[in-house]
This record gives sequence, C-alpha cells and structure tokens, in this order.
Amino acid sequence: MALPGEEESTHELLMAHAQVWNHIFKFMLPMSLKCAIELNIPDIIKNHGKPMTLSELISALPINKAKSHCIHRIMRVLVHSKFFIKVDTKNENKQNEGYWLTPSSKLLLKDSPLCVSPFLLLILDPILMKPCNSISEWLADDRVTAFETTHGLMFWEQAKTVSGMNELFNEAMAGDARFVSCVMLKEFERLFEGVDSLVDVGGGTGTMAKAISDAFPEMKCTVLDLPHVVSGLEGVRNLNYVGGDMFTEIPTADVVLLKWILHDWNDKDCIKILQKCKYAIPGKERGGKVIIIDIILGYNEENDIVKEDQLFFDIAMMVYLNGKERNEKEWKKLFLDAGFSSYNITPTLGVRSIIEVYP
Ligand SMILES: C[S@@+](CC[C@H](N)C(=O)[O-])C[C@H]1O[C@@H](n2cnc3c(N)ncnc32)[C@H](O)[C@@H]1O
Repeated sequence: MALPGEEESTHELLMAHAQVWNHIFKFMLPMSLKCAIELNIPDIIKNHGKPMTLSELISALPINKAKSHCIHRIMRVLVHSKFFIKVDTKNENKQNEGYWLTPSSKLLLKDSPLCVSPFLLLILDPILMKPCNSISEWLADDRVTAFETTHGLMFWEQAKTVSGMNELFNEAMAGDARFVSCVMLKEFERLFEGVDSLVDVGGGTGTMAKAISDAFPEMKCTVLDLPHVVSGLEGVRNLNYVGGDMFTEIPTADVVLLKWILHDWNDKDCIKILQKCKYAIPGKERGGKVIIIDIILGYNEENDIVKEDQLFFDIAMMVYLNGKERNEKEWKKLFLDAGFSSYNITPTLGVRSIIEVYP
C-alpha cells in the first residue's frame, strides 16, 4: 500500500493537508461568533445606524483597551464567513471602511423576533460541548449517551437539577419557536384552519402555542411540558399550561403538535409518545391529526448547508439525548407501528419539514 503522499502530486498533498487543518480549526468560527454575541457586536453596529469603523467599534466595546488590536482579527474571521461585510464610509477621521450587518448577523440581533443567539449560546455552552469530547469514551462504556458519560445524569434530569440549564435551554427553544412560528403562520397557516383545539406536547415555555393562539383566538391551545418547565407560567385567554409527562398522558385535542420532540428519542420511546398522541386526538374524519416539525434526512439535501446541518443534528441527538434524525422510511415505520394510517409531508421548512400524521 502506498504511503500518504506517494500517489498524489505535491499540490494534492498540500491541499489535503490544508483541508484537514481547515476541519481541525473550523470550531474557531462559532467561538468567534459567540464572542461577538457576548460583546453585543451585532446590536452595537445596528444601533450605530451606519457602517462602523474599527476604532468606533473598539471604543463601544466593554473590553480591556490593551487588547483592542484583537478585535479586527475576530472581525476578519466573521467578515470572511459573511457574518459582517466591510463597506466604504465617508468620515472625517480618514478610516474609510466600516463593518455592517449581513442577513446572517441580522439573525443575531437581540430584539429580532428571529434571533438565533440563544440557540448558539446553548449549543456552545460547556455543558453541551464537553460531551462532544467524550464520544469515543461513551462508545466503549455502558452509559446511554455521551452527555451521561460526561455529566453522570441524563439530559432532562440535568436540566431539572442543575442551576441555569433549564433557563438556558428554554430560552434557546423559545428563540427557535419564535423563528418557526413566524415562518409557519406566514406560509402554512392552512395547517391550523378549522382546528378547535391543539396541544403542543413538549411545548417548552409556550412560545409556539402562544403564537398559534394569538393567530387563532377561537382555538383552545394547551402546552404540555415537564412540571419544572411550566411551573409559574400563567395561561392567558385561549392558552393554558399543563405540567405532566407525555409518556403518561396527553390532554385531548383535535391536533397534537410535536415540534422538535421525536428526534430526542429512540424508536421505542417515539412509538410510545405517538400512541399517546393517537389516544388524545379524534379520528381523521373529525379532524384529528398530529403535526410533527422535525428533520427528514434526504429532504432538501440538494443544498449542501442543509444536508450538513441535518447530519450534524443527528450526531448532536446521539450525543445529548439518545435520539436520532430519520429518513422518510424510518418515519413511516414509526407511524405505522404506532397505529397511524397515513401521513403528508410539507418539505419546505428549510432544514426541517412538516409532517401531518393521520389516525
Ligand atoms: C427539544 S425541546 C422542544 C421544545 C419545543 N417543542 C420547541 O421546539 O421549541 C423538547 C421538550 O420536551 C420536553 N420534555 C422532555 N421530556 C418530556 C416528558 N416526558 N413529558 C413532557 N415534555 C417533555 C422538554 O422539557 C423540552 O421542553
């Protein structure tokens, strides 16, 4: 067998080496992005109202000014990755280039309903990063997840007991729910038309259900989540909260919503959850259905970024939760095994899809 470098040209060898280095250091991008979010850079630039020069940016940042020279290096990576752009500015102090926002950094603005920063801060928090360092150790031990190998507890137990994790997690989920509800209610309102009642199972602190209940004031909406998640949350008008366990009982409704639930669980648990859903809804002819928002592997994967996101999510579900992302065949098997008769896929939610499942 040829040794590395013996069959390739020197150019190919150097490019292969560069590619390996690129992957080794790729984590520097999210880390730089996390730093920019913690320093509030997207909002500072937005509030400036026009492109911001490096010296203007530095003087607005709460940093040790002896380290000011590092800011352009962090911004250089973020400009390269298209989180910011550099544009010409006309200004008296002769600096003629300023940083401005791109569509990606607009999604990091604190007051944007579509802000994804809480999700980034969750995924890059040491509590979720550390288990990613233990995957091979976990593959050799008898723990259920690498998360458990690292922390000694399963994810939901840790969220319940460790100070700060519940809030960090719920805030990240609420951010995603704001994003998805915005898109869904704009593009796929028809999914909820004619529905009298809906229960959002594992609905977190209720962001998604609140958006639906506001859009459909006649619909009775319920959020079911673990008691520590919904404790202290007050229902309003047509929205109420129930603390409970979806493996035990799901409140009855025309429609059960499962957003980002089933990918957290293995097939056996998914079938149990789906059976409880089936029990909670009426027959198809009376409008009963389950709406699932999750990834379907193989859908929308012509887009390389989407495909990579889907594969990364699958590893994330394996590391944190003993869950997985599924292709259509695997989804279909779950539905049939849980006693459902048919389903309909709307594959147009970016990385994720919408699946309507009928009894
Ligand atoms: C990935 S989060 C999704 C939250 C929300 N549906 C969303 O997408 O924004 C999963 C949710 O399931 C909840 N959960 C976990 N185990 C549960 C159980 N046994 N019964 C009810 N909810 C549960 C968690 O507390 C969490 O809010």
